[in-house]
Formats: sequence, structure tokens, C-alpha cells
Amino acid sequence: LPDESQIRADIERLRKEKNAVIIAHNYQRPEVQGIADYVGDSLGLSRQAAKTDADVIVFAGVHFMAETAAILNPDKTVLLPDLRAGCSLADTVTAQGIRDWKTQNPGGLVVTYVNTTADVKAESDYCCTSGNAVQIVQNLPADVPVLFAPDRFLAAHVIRETGRAMDVWDGACHVHEAIRPEDVQDQQAAYPDAELLIHPECGCSTKILGALPELQLYSTEGMVHRARESAAQEFIVVTETGMVTRLEHDVPGKTFIPVSRTACCEYMKMITLENIRDALENLQPRVTVPADIREKALVPIERMLAIG
Ligand code: 13P
Ligand code: SF4
Repeated sequence: LPDESQIRADIERLRKEKNAVIIAHNYQRPEVQGIADYVGDSLGLSRQAAKTDADVIVFAGVHFMAETAAILNPDKTVLLPDLRAGCSLADTVTAQGIRDWKTQNPGGLVVTYVNTTADVKAESDYCCTSGNAVQIVQNLPADVPVLFAPDRFLAAHVIRETGRAMDVWDGACHVHEAIRPEDVQDQQAAYPDAELLIHPECGCSTKILGALPELQLYSTEGMVHRARESAAQEFIVVTETGMVTRLEHDVPGKTFIPVSRTACCEYMKMITLENIRDALENLQPRVTVPADIREKALVPIERMLAIG
């Protein structure tokens, strides 16, 4: 499309003019992944945001990810091309909810998934992502109460892997929760030789692991590593559909089957080439975090980056 090539050319020019870096989550649209300087999982994106020397970070992802980048880079301009790109999982927990748990559990530790707002992070002791949650919980001191928030399916996975008893927040991502064990079974029947790549946010994971206790779960980046090293040629990708784009790009020659075409995060898909171009042009919309929240939220993020 001539229009699209013009937008791509504009993005190329503006990226240089503004000394900007475009970082994209694995669930982004194919064309957005295609123009990004870096594509990765939540942990990889936090690491990239922490080390970039660009003046402007364009975050092709959702609001909490851009906030994390802003917390790590208070002096840089962080752009989220569509501010409506939120997260149903992050919406399940509030800072007041975390404060209430701490009041009831003096001396307790709070581990929150990065899929949370900055003010929830500000009340947390450690952040984690699906890529390092097990490692973070393994590093906690023994004999203190722990709250794991907000994803109850990731929490179930961490409890299974570590044996650590924890209080669990009752949250879930609407996309992953809606993936049913039957969706996985139907694809297994259609592709009997395919290996399962299951994300721990999935509602189906608890039931499937009951039947297959040896099965590994993977963060989105973990899926890329597994698909590369596995002898299997076909994989059923049990997470948001955008992941198939990343796997097909990074592991050519193998076949990736989405568990369900409806497992699509509408928030992730709000970022387009057009609004990336506009964001670069106008240096808007920006994501900023007030200094008092930022200082407190930086502590659990830096602890996470130091451990896992
Ligand atoms: P990861 O990419 O860290 O596995 O997270 C998945 C997710 O749902 C991000 O919103
Ligand atoms: Fe949030 Fe789920 Fe979308 Fe990830 S896939 S951004 S957890 S709503």
C-alpha cells in the first residue's frame, strides 16, 4: 500500500530525528513488530527500557508497560501511541487493596506481577514477570506471609513450582482466562505431533497440568527459546495470537498453530503504524509517573531486575 509505505518512511525519518527507540511486546500487530527496534516479553521490555540511551521511548504495548519504562527513565520522553491501551488484569487490583492486606499481615511481603499500575507497584516489595516469577519467589525469606497479586493462574503455577504457601489475589487476564482446556484438546486432536507452548496466565493451565504434571509453562520469550531448542516441528501456541507472529519470525521453518483465533488482546492491538507515526511527530501522548509514586515503585522493579 502506498499509504503504508509512506507511514513507514515517516517513522524511519522521525525515529532518527527524535533519537527514538520503538520497543514492542510480542502481542503487537505483525506490522508493528516489523518496525520495532526490539520485540520481547515484559521482562525483556523492562530491561531494554532500563538500558536505552535514546531520548524518546515509543512503547508499542499497554499502559502499565509504558509506566514501567517511565519509572526506569524519569528524564526520557515515554510515548504510548494510544492511551486507551490498558490491561484487564492490571485493572483487577488497587493500591488500597494491597495496603489492606499489609495491614492485616504485618511483616508480610507483596510480590506483584508487572501487569499492575505504578501505584500498586509503589505498595509492593518485589515485581515479577511470567519469565522470572518462580525465581523471585524462591529468593524470598522463609516464614513471612506472602501475597502474590494479581494473577491467580500465574500464582498457582508459582506455588506448584516452589511449594511456597502464599495468599493469592483473585485476578485474571480476560484473554488468557477465556482459553479453555477444550480449545487445547481440539487443537491437539487436529495436530497430534505438535508440542504445547502454554503461558502461565492461561485459565486452562491448572487443569492441563493436573493431567500432565511434567509440562513446562513459558513466558512469551520462553516460548521462543523452547521452540528453537525443541526437536518438535509443530507447536500449539496457548496464549494471545500475536505470539505466533514473533515465533514465525524468530523460528523459521517450524509451524505455529494458535490455540484459538479469538485469544486476541484488543488493548495490544490498539497500537498501529499510524498512531506510532503520530506519536513520534507530536511527542504525545506521554506517560509520566508522579515523583513520589515513581520513587517507591522503582524499588520492587529494581529488585526484580537484579534477581531474574
Ligand atoms: P509476558 O510477555 O511477560 O509473558 O506477558 C504476557 C502478557 O500478558 C503481557 O501482557
Ligand atoms: Fe493485559 Fe491480558 Fe492484554 Fe496482557 S493479554 S495486556 S494481561 S489484557
